[in-house]
Amino acid sequence: MSQAQLEPVVAPRPRGAAAPEAGRLSSYERSLGRSRESLMRKDRPRVFTMFGHEWDLFPEVFAPVYSPSTQVAVDFLDLARPGTHDGGSFLEMGCGTGLVAAMAVFAGYDRVVASDINRMAVANAAANAERHGLGDRLRAVHSDLFAGLEPGERFDVVFWSSNYVLAPADYSYRSPHEQAYVDPGYRTHRRYLTEAPLRVTPTGSALLHFSDRGDVPALYRIADECGRELRLVDAHRVRECEYGDDMVEHLLFEIVPRTA
Ligand SMILES: C[S@@+](CC[C@H](N)C(=O)[O-])C[C@H]1O[C@@H](n2cnc3c(N)ncnc32)[C@H](O)[C@@H]1O
Repeated sequence: MSQAQLEPVVAPRPRGAAAPEAGRLSSYERSLGRSRESLMRKDRPRVFTMFGHEWDLFPEVFAPVYSPSTQVAVDFLDLARPGTHDGGSFLEMGCGTGLVAAMAVFAGYDRVVASDINRMAVANAAANAERHGLGDRLRAVHSDLFAGLEPGERFDVVFWSSNYVLAPADYSYRSPHEQAYVDPGYRTHRRYLTEAPLRVTPTGSALLHFSDRGDVPALYRIADECGRELRLVDAHRVRECEYGDDMVEHLLFEIVPRTA
């Protein structure tokens, strides 16, 4: 993404009362219902086309075809057109199919890592890298956030399109796929907010793709507790697609260490 895009587009920190529809939109049970539905659908493809390319979709992996979020991520990062970036390194945390990571290679990043806690997603990202002949520039890694990466490995861009719906802290995942949808107690978000800025190069950006289906005030609160500042870089309001007509605000935050 260009430096110009990193300027905050909305300065004020979100506060105050939630919108009337927020309870329904942010319901973790509804998200888990979608998780189940997207796995069981008879029309779930094994291969899909997006951005003019074909992609493998493995079982148990987040399906970009049922939600606008993967496409929004590509737009946020300015990856839709080849050659828009002149080298550099890119980490896609929580890569799912690895589509965003592969698009980063097409866009010009020359060292890309696609990483996920879901082993099937790692295999899926590796398959898509192979399908597109990107083996020398895209590495798929199994990792719980940064734990499985090379110690001290840093990137110009660290990006996670997160499981932004808040689940109760005592919720236990019933399948690896559910990890794409909800985060119990925002424990993973808390770790990401702490660790992502430590994994960027001195001029790099640690980015989080969140939405107003998540608990935005809670995210700000946690960032504050972790000594982090959230800068809103971009926002796209989009229709939810397959699962209804709700409008959802997708948010791209840069995470920076708070200055005293
Ligand atoms: C909303 S999905 C996004 C998938 C993909 N980036 C896309 O846009 O299609 C969130 C992803 O984060 C992954 N994830 C959740 N917790 C994680 C963790 N602790 N470490 C790494 N990845 C995680 C999930 O497995 C899932 O693939």
